[in-house]
Order: sequence, then C-alpha cells, then structure tokens
Amino acid sequence: MITATGLDVAAVRADFPILSRRVRDNQPLVYLDSAATAQKPRVVLDAERRFYEEVNAAVHRGAHALAEEATDAYEEARQRIATFVGGHPEQCVLVRNATEALNLLAYAFSNATALAGAGRVAAREAGFDGDPRLVLGPGRSIVVSELEHHANLVPWQQAAAKTGATLRWLPITPTGRLDLSDLDRIITRDTAVVSITAQSNVTGAITPLVPIVERARAVGAFIFLDACQAVPNSPVDVAGLGVDALCWSGHKMCGPTGIGVLWARAELLAAMPPFLSGGSMIDTVEMTRATFALPPQRFEAGTPLTAQAIGLAAAAQYLDGIGMARIADHERHLTACALAGIAELPEVRVIGPTDLVDRGGVVSVIVDGVHAHDVGQVLDDRGVAVRVGHHCAWPLNRRLGIAASTRASFYLYNDEDDVAAFVAGLAAAVSYFRGR
Ligand SMILES: Cc1ncc(COP(=O)(O)O)c(C=O)c1O
Repeated sequence: MITATGLDVAAVRADFPILSRRVRDNQPLVYLDSAATAQKPRVVLDAERRFYEEVNAAVHRGAHALAEEATDAYEEARQRIATFVGGHPEQCVLVRNATEALNLLAYAFSNATALAGAGRVAAREAGFDGDPRLVLGPGRSIVVSELEHHANLVPWQQAAAKTGATLRWLPITPTGRLDLSDLDRIITRDTAVVSITAQSNVTGAITPLVPIVERARAVGAFIFLDACQAVPNSPVDVAGLGVDALCWSGHKMCGPTGIGVLWARAELLAAMPPFLSGGSMIDTVEMTRATFALPPQRFEAGTPLTAQAIGLAAAAQYLDGIGMARIADHERHLTACALAGIAELPEVRVIGPTDLVDRGGVVSVIVDGVHAHDVGQVLDDRGVAVRVGHHCAWPLNRRLGIAASTRASFYLYNDEDDVAAFVAGLAAAVSYFRGR
C-alpha cells in the first residue's frame, strides 16, 4: 500500500527480515525505537556477509589479491558514505559511532592544549602544528546546549576540566526547543567551539542552525553538529550547512552497529593532532618518534571497521534509493498522526513541541502519575517497542522537571497502524494505572 507520502511501506517492510517477528504471546512486533537503533534491510546484511564470504582481508596492508580487493571495497564504501551527505571521501573519518567522533573532536582540543604547553617542537613531533584556535585554557569557552545527548556533553566537560576552559550552554524553552535569546552573550569572542545537536533525541526539536552558525563564525569559533537524529531521517548536505564538522552513527540509518562517521572540513582535519594512535595512522615510525598519515587515515588507528563500512555504504545506497526527502515526509506524517492521537488523551503530555514546526519524528510523552517504565511495560505487553528512561539526556530531563519519559520514534518502515498501536497502548496505560 502506498501511503499519503508516496512511500510503499509494505514493500519497505518486506526488506527488513526482523519486522516479521512476533513477540510477547505471538503478537506482531511494532518497532518504534529507531531513534535508538534502526532495523537493517536485507541488502545491508547481505553486503556484510558477502564481504566476509568473498573478500575478507585486512585493508591498507598486504599485497595479496584479497587485501587489494578489501582495500578497494573499504575506500569505495567511504566514497559512498561521503556522497550520502554531499562530502568528499578524504573528509570522512570512519569511527565506531557518533560518541567516538565527538570524543575525537573534544580530544583534539585537550590534546592540542597539552601539546601547546610542551613547546612548539614537541608539539610538531606529536602531530600538532600549533593552530591556536584548538588551544583551550582559562578564558576560553566551549558552548553546548541543554538539549544535548550525553555523547555531546560529557566529552566537552572532560575537555573543559583538562584545560581550564569554561563550559557554557544554550538553555531551552519550556517546550523543549533551544532558546536563542541570549545567543550573543553565550557565544562570545572567547568561544573556541560550539558543539550542538541537529535535533533533540528527546523533544524532537530541530535546531535553528543558521543564527548559531552565523554567531559562531562571527566570533571565530568552530561549529560542530551532532547529526545523529538528522542524517538518518532527512536530506543533509554538508556543503550548505556552514559547519566545520558533523557526525552520526551508522546503526541509526539502517547500517551495522560499530560504524560512525566524522565529516570535517579538510583544514580542521589537517590541524587536529592525532586521537588514537598505533598502526594504520602513521607514515614512519622510529623507536622514539613517529610521523603521521594524512587524514582521514590519521584518525583511523588500527584495523579499520571494514565490513561495517561496507554495510553502511549499502544502507546509504538503500536509503538514497527510497529518497531521503520522501523518508522525512513520511516521518512527518506519522508524527502528525501521533500528535493528533495523543491530543485525545488528556492524561498524556508531550515532552516537546506539539506542532510540526521544525520538529522531527520522535515523540516523547509522560502519562501523568505513571512512571515511564510502567508505560513501557504496558506497550511491550502489546508488542510495541519504545524507549523509556532519560534517553541519555539527564540535564534536559532535569530542566523539564521530569525523571523519565516514554519515547516513540518513527522511521521509513513504520505506518499509521504502528502509530495507532502506540496511541492505543498509551490509552491502555492510562486506563490500567489511572482507572479510566
Ligand atoms: C542526538 C544523539 N547524539 C548522540 C548519540 C550517540 O550515538 P551512539 O551511541 O551511536 O554513539 C545519540 C544516540 O542515541 C543521539 O540520539
């Protein structure tokens, strides 16, 4: 059946073996937890298996046929992944996940600061050319927001603690959007880096990027984007965003676990000192020193995530075949259905915007007087998989005065029946716990 948004969801669902599973007393699985991790289509599973069955070898080393083919397959995968966001392959570092990408960025600053203190020659020998924009310390600041996933907060807390820099943040409004009214007082001439989410994984609010990018540029700060909840769900073109770096996790876009992407401007990659070190990231090595490969290899220490990269490239191809704009429209339609259904339940409160303006396809709710885990249990008993808890965003929860929420997230393989199952499950939780 082709939906209002032109997506043949039944055909899409047939691509995902797991979606035919039955759970909890043989009920059909309703999977509404794609913001945590998305399910995998057969083409991704096949691509990984084919690599292991036919090509498997360590890449960038070895002169045998398989090593050559594996290296080609890995670099072709990088090219495909880069194209997915309009980037160039040499700007794409393949890491384990977005958390690692954000750590790589945060460590670039704390390592640069430590190396700058060791003196120019020592710093250069350790792979840092001395770009002062990467050097933190008292009097410099790092800016995040109250919406951040812990992955884009804790690494910056650590960088601040190691360097003496100040951590500042953009606050949020009561509806879980970013509050930019104090933008110019928070991002100032002393700001070295602004690292911000593209879309909240709790409230679904999409970040108004333009004023933040403009302000960061005006004060000479780097601007980084945690695009975990954007790249899998909407068309993203790095060229038009104006950011210096952007990252996401492959497993949230139908790719394998264990692969994430850091896209960064070439100048930034060239300026950053190495993060993890060892094999594969070097040029030459002597007993007391080493020189380093050019990016992106400089940031890919050890045997790379080869099968995972190939699986992620297959996922990119698959999603592009369906069309990212179509997927975004589809999620928007399902979100509208969910918000309309929830509006009929007076005991259920949406944590985040209740309209569709600048809003993505995650819907978090509180059922008044009922703990999120109990709501999740009622849904799970009906075969509906949602996420419950703080969603790795404790400061956001605290600011909104909630302990936890129940989150449904929609993706290309969900349909209106899935949304109806979610809303019916919420109604069942209300009636079970509130006796209505
Ligand atoms: C907005 C956001 N940032 C970062 C992450 C971290 O992703 P990963 O655990 O794959 O590194 C997540 C995961 O839920 C997320 O939603």
